[in-house]
Amino acid sequence: MQVIATIPELRAAIKQSQTAHETIGFVPTMGYLHEGHLSLIRRARQENDMVVVSIFVNPTQFAPHEDLATYPRDHERDLALLHTASADIVFLPAVEELYPSGYTTYVQVEGSISATLCGVSRPTFFRGVATIVTKLFHIVTPQRAYFGQKDAQQAAVIKKMIRDLNFDIDIVICPTVREKDGLAMSSRNTYLTPTQRAQAVGISQALFEARALIENGEHRASHIRQSIETRIAAIDDAVIDYVSIVDATTLADVETLSGETLIAAAVKVGKTRLIDNIQVQISGSI
Ligand code: PAJ
Repeated sequence: MQVIATIPELRAAIKQSQTAHETIGFVPTMGYLHEGHLSLIRRARQENDMVVVSIFVNPTQFAPHEDLATYPRDHERDLALLHTASADIVFLPAVEELYPSGYTTYVQVEGSISATLCGVSRPTFFRGVATIVTKLFHIVTPQRAYFGQKDAQQAAVIKKMIRDLNFDIDIVICPTVREKDGLAMSSRNTYLTPTQRAQAVGISQALFEARALIENGEHRASHIRQSIETRIAAIDDAVIDYVSIVDATTLADVETLSGETLIAAAVKVGKTRLIDNIQVQISGSI
């Protein structure tokens, strides 16, 4: 496994695999890896000759009041996990490598797909994500790139960007990996106190209860949202940012569930903002 810090070195390594006609699978991350990240890497390993993983806590996707400075980092542990997962190249650049002084170019996926859900409380987040992902795609030139369903809006924004900007890259979305009790894995779970961690499971439980309601025939979005909000409101120390029921592709609100529907929630537990979602497929007429 090669650990590379500079763009020229990474480009040279990529060129070698391209010359050998190897396919490249790419997994962008911000590090502090957990099983969710590793599931993407394993999938990339199955489907490509060469697997590139980036670890970069991207400053442009954090607002000034957010947790850029305290975002958890442990490169030694990450590299050991990546070695075990058989990654070929780990790109671990310094901030100046990607944003040298005088950097001024950004990628903005306009419209409600970025402005809704997390875009309401984090209005510059998706601009930062689209910018760094574009830069990394240009440097790594993968055939396939792997993202988690856990960040469903991020996945939708990136898919839209791929279409709009004609990137020739397959975007592969992998299922959310959860702790045994159901809490979606996240690097930010480490911020939770033991009490908050015990309470946070209520978010996934609320979503699973909603799935059960839907399976029992409830298709009215307002009723499903109400049930989720009531369940989450019962969690001490939790403040709902949003509970939304939207079309899984456009992220437009729906009144009645039909087709591929995303049920997404963002909740602050203490100071930690957690997101989770489930996707349901409603078939036939209702
Ligand atoms: P990060 O939060 O480190 O996540 C990296 C990738 O892992 C994302 O595609 C995310 O959706 C996926 N992931 C996180 N938790 C997961 C889980 N429990 N199950 C499955 N997949 C999971 O997302 C980012 O970094 C950044 O925004 C990035 C895309 C790297 C751009 O900076």
